[in-house]
Amino acid sequence: MVSPIKTVAVLGGSGNLGPFIVQELVAAGFAVTGVTREASTNSTPKFPDGLPVKSVDYGSLDALKMAFDGQDAVVSIVGAPGIGAQKLAVDAALAAGVKRFIPSEFGINTRKVRGTPIGKIVAGKIDVVDYLQEKAKKNPSFTWTGLSTGLFFDVALKIGAAGINLKDKTATVIDSGNEKWQASQRSHIGKAVAAILHHPEETANKYLGTASFNLSQNELIDLVEELTGVKLTVTHASSADVQKAGEEKLAQGDFRAFLDFLRAHNHADGAGNALTGGANELIGLPYEDLREVVKGLLPSSTGDL
Ligand SMILES: NC(=O)c1ccc[n+]([C@@H]2O[C@H](COP(=O)([O-])OP(=O)(O)OC[C@H]3O[C@@H](n4cnc5c(N)ncnc54)[C@H](OP(=O)(O)O)[C@@H]3O)[C@@H](O)[C@H]2O)c1
Ligand SMILES: *[C@@H]1O[C@H](CO)[C@@H](O)[C@H](O)[C@H]1NC(C)=O
Repeated sequence: MVSPIKTVAVLGGSGNLGPFIVQELVAAGFAVTGVTREASTNSTPKFPDGLPVKSVDYGSLDALKMAFDGQDAVVSIVGAPGIGAQKLAVDAALAAGVKRFIPSEFGINTRKVRGTPIGKIVAGKIDVVDYLQEKAKKNPSFTWTGLSTGLFFDVALKIGAAGINLKDKTATVIDSGNEKWQASQRSHIGKAVAAILHHPEETANKYLGTASFNLSQNELIDLVEELTGVKLTVTHASSADVQKAGEEKLAQGDFRAFLDFLRAHNHADGAGNALTGGANELIGLPYEDLREVVKGLLPSSTGDL
């Protein structure tokens, strides 16, 4: 029997995704403590008013352990430069008697891409989950949960990463455009993390996937055209060419290759990277309605497109 989780320390809660998770954890009734790097240069840390925040040297096991004392769970939402630093945080969590560690995953299912080109870019994440697995095996009271979310849909639609450029009224479709892909609004991810911590037993030592929905590129284009009354100019690209462009970038040490790999990973015909066997049912979390979400995210006046 796993005892309930009440206290939660959040690492990297001040960035793009973090505030959505902190907000949902607080709303779900957890006692949340923000942890921020002593060396943080984040000039606009976005913690809610009144949230206790500890400033910690991430290079010190003792300092991290002290920050984690009394915490039931640690949720890490650190950005790319902080992925490697999580190993010491895992050691500290274990030493402090923390029962659950959620590493900073929140994207593609990194369990499925070991050794592939995109897997090379997320090698640090793969390594941390391997490390957690190993620690949990040796220490049964220490557990972990990994969460894959797919693309941040609310961000992606606005910045053009969902294949649609609202400003230019253009869209790029990879292969047929019919392959389903996994996407989550950041608010949904916050709810999923809270729901995982409310279901410690069912979610222990598992790598889970969640989504607001699966969608295809064509579905999204049709919906945006219908909701705005604007016809998008669609160009086509093959996933093989997109993948090759990524490989050329990576060969030159250019990590923007990730975006090319991600497009091929999500959209290639037969890629099979939509959400399957998702955690929504396990943790009692509903899917969202694509139409309603897109309606809410589109600029209110089509003149702004
Ligand atoms: N699925 C998607 O579409 C998508 C998109 C973007 C990101 N992600 C993933 O979501 C997670 C969070 O990303 P994000 O964009 O929210 O990250 P972010 O805003 O770039 O960074 C989050 C926080 O990480 C901390 N941090 C920065 N550098 C660090 C370092 N060297 N060591 C330790 N901590 C450091 C900072 O907190 P302090 O300054 O307070 O210490 C920062 O506010 C990552 O796993 C990322 O890969 C997914
Ligand atoms: C997502 O799409 C995959 C592939 O089409 C399908 O197997 C899965 O059931 C879908 N899940 C949801 C929640 O729509």
